[in-house]
Amino acid sequence: MKLSDQEFRDLRLLIQRLCGIWLGDDKKYLIQSRLEPVLHRKKLHSYAELATKAADAQGALLQTDIVEAITTNETSFNRDGHPFEEFRKAILPLLIQTRAERQRTASLPFGKIRIWSAAASTGQEAYSLAIAILEFIKTQPRSGSDRFLVGPENFQILGTDISAEALRVAKAGQYNARDLDRGLDAESKRLYFVESNGRFEAVPPLKNMVEFQRLNLAQPMTDMSCFDVILCRNLLIYFDESTRRCVLEQLCARLSPGGILMLGAAESATALPKGVEQVQMGKTIVYRKSHVLC
Ligand SMILES: C[S@@+](CC[C@H](N)C(=O)[O-])C[C@H]1O[C@@H](n2cnc3c(N)ncnc32)[C@H](O)[C@@H]1O
Repeated sequence: MKLSDQEFRDLRLLIQRLCGIWLGDDKKYLIQSRLEPVLHRKKLHSYAELATKAADAQGALLQTDIVEAITTNETSFNRDGHPFEEFRKAILPLLIQTRAERQRTASLPFGKIRIWSAAASTGQEAYSLAIAILEFIKTQPRSGSDRFLVGPENFQILGTDISAEALRVAKAGQYNARDLDRGLDAESKRLYFVESNGRFEAVPPLKNMVEFQRLNLAQPMTDMSCFDVILCRNLLIYFDESTRRCVLEQLCARLSPGGILMLGAAESATALPKGVEQVQMGKTIVYRKSHVLC
């Protein structure tokens, strides 16, 4: 079906309002190819009718259809490799050391180390973090050390996404062989997934650490508390500069003192909020909040 320039402009504004994604002038084909199936399913006669019906008070279901169609859920386990290696080798020991020191000096409980995968898609990022944590725990000395020893019960991973469809897959934690091949080695597949009828399900120790819920990052994140590590990877590239800045500000406000923000390989935080600095960790750039209170 033909998409006029005016319909394109109306729909891209609506899309930006719904989920923050900004489609440049060269993305007309994307609206057409992603939204045409919605038109057919909903028996609508034009893109103008879709835009009008979605924008009115009864348009909530249509809005969900548009967001589901427009969002790109591309992801994989251990995407880009080195950020997850750095998370296991450098970030986790740092967080644990800081917590243990706080416990010793200020008599505060160790509590849970909280990690947020803020654009979790179908869950591979959150499960990759859980695998890194379990692998890290295995490397701890069993005894004869004054280091604080942590177990899976000391960690909590929250995955959020705007797409209910992606979250359904994430919560089920079931993938096909091809999904596992994208980022997991043979040992991780064997240890952390159980096969049943050609599907591979994350084992309980992974699932017990991870929780998923729906959240639109382009809206005020008023219900979110503080996290020690926040990953917001491969989402900001879809936003315009002002939405990017606003989301970054909100994420940084939810970092605990000393907390770490990790972005995607193609993303950088140009305008960093006060008290957050860029730090190079191995091949990975992260953003670290100073030790002032959240
Ligand atoms: C390309 S995936 C990235 C997944 C994962 N972080 C990674 O790097 O592999 C981007 C995800 O952002 C989600 N998304 C898009 N707009 C969003 C919004 N406004 N709030 C929350 N999630 C959003 C999409 O549904 C999609 O699952």
